[in-house]
Amino acid sequence: MRKSTIIAVLAAALVTPTVRAADVTEADYQKAMKDTLAGMQAVGKTMREATGDLSGAVAGAKSIEAALASIDSFWAARKDDEAVKMNAAAREAAMAAAKAAESNDAAATGAAMKALQGACKACHDVHREQLPDKTYKIK
Ligand code: HEC
Repeated sequence: MRKSTIIAVLAAALVTPTVRAADVTEADYQKAMKDTLAGMQAVGKTMREATGDLSGAVAGAKSIEAALASIDSFWAARKDDEAVKMNAAAREAAMAAAKAAESNDAAATGAAMKALQGACKACHDVHREQLPDKTYKIK
């Protein structure tokens, strides 16, 4: 490749972000939320079974974090800093739960999950609206 070609390719790579913010559709959003719910249920189940093996909770908490990470750019695209912060707080709580579960600390996992539920609710209180048919909409 000639030097000018290389420069052109590099420049194109710089102006083309790999993930465009607008790519997170409302359908993607709903799917991510359903994934977080599945993760919450997986952690809850592991905690209730209390076998002393928290690996299911580790996986569940990590899947919650990943699902929440996938919607970060949705709020960034809307330039809603508050929502970005709430999502970051929820992701942190999910990571804290995963860490606690990794060190097999059930009490700390439970505490982190409680904080996580609070973080889910904080955002829902502001940004989630239930419609008469019981489905939800983003506000
Ligand atoms: C940054 C904001 C935010 C955070 C954090 C958040 N949610 Fe949501 N959630 C929403 C919004 C907005 C909707 C409505 C989306 C829609 O249905 O279009 C929603 C919808 C949902 C739904 C309904 C999905 C459906 O359409 O059936 C579930 C379940 C849900 N959230 C679970 C969770 C759980 C569990 C957490 C925490 C682990 C969480 N959410 C964290 C904003 C958030």
